[in-house]
Amino acid sequence: MQAGSPRAIAVSGVADRARKSPWPARLDVLQSVSGLALVLFLWAHMFFVASILLGKDVMWTVTRFFEGYYVFGERHPWIVSLIVAFVIALFVGHALLALRKVPGSYRQYREFRSHMKVFAHADTTWWFWQVFTGIALLFLASPHLYVMLSQADTIGPYGSSDRVWSDRMWGLYALLLLAVELHGGIGLYRLAVKWGWFTGGEPGASRARLRRLKWAITGFFLALGFLTLAAYIKIGIEHADRHGEPYVPAFTVAMPPRGEAP
Ligand code: HEM
Repeated sequence: MQAGSPRAIAVSGVADRARKSPWPARLDVLQSVSGLALVLFLWAHMFFVASILLGKDVMWTVTRFFEGYYVFGERHPWIVSLIVAFVIALFVGHALLALRKVPGSYRQYREFRSHMKVFAHADTTWWFWQVFTGIALLFLASPHLYVMLSQADTIGPYGSSDRVWSDRMWGLYALLLLAVELHGGIGLYRLAVKWGWFTGGEPGASRARLRRLKWAITGFFLALGFLTLAAYIKIGIEHADRHGEPYVPAFTVAMPPRGEAP
């Protein structure tokens, strides 16, 4: 076999290495799509959880809706567990895809930090915070997701407030809220820049506009989240001596059981 002949190149494997793989680009798209899906889920989640601000009855109704109560006429908390299992799969998949980009050694980390200082550019600094909050989320979101998966039947105005206050989850939720809102906000901004969303007009001006929008969204969800947390804490304190007792809305007491005459 002659050195440099097509057969010699094929046998040595050089040809394979020279061929460009489409996989890094595909994995990048998957990372973006899973990140976007998680951000959209989180926005919806924040509004559902914030239903407590409109009253215990409203949160009770939202909870029962997800348990299929209004379709089957009885509670099926396993439906919520199924949704949680899907979100866990999305969360784990997104984390595995993102881990490809995290500095793999202390040396790489030091190099990135010195680049960050030299560039002194907001987007590079934000990338660091996105990695930092992403790693924090692996630890902060996992206990919450496990509890939601295994105790979906306890979700409700009193069940959730007891968990937040009497079971002392409020500290974890406060940190989780900060980490997830910063992570999601920066992630969405980076997606918009990367895929060219809302970037019409002069490039510098459109980035400045995007940054303002990013802070407005992050600020809104942080304010909503902390207000919501305060509401659960207040109810949790009031309900502490009846910990574990579920909420029964006034309108279900007044209504006769299904199938019975009013
Ligand atoms: C389908 C999956 C999920 C369900 C069913 C769910 C449900 C809930 C519920 C019912 C609460 C109220 C407190 C409680 O009952 O313990 C809550 C709070 C919270 N959840 Fe989730 N959650 C899910 C996924 C997530 C994820 C993926 C994150 C972020 C990574 C997250 C972040 C939070 C935060 C920060 C709070 C505190 C509420 C606040 O301060 O506004 N949750 N969640």
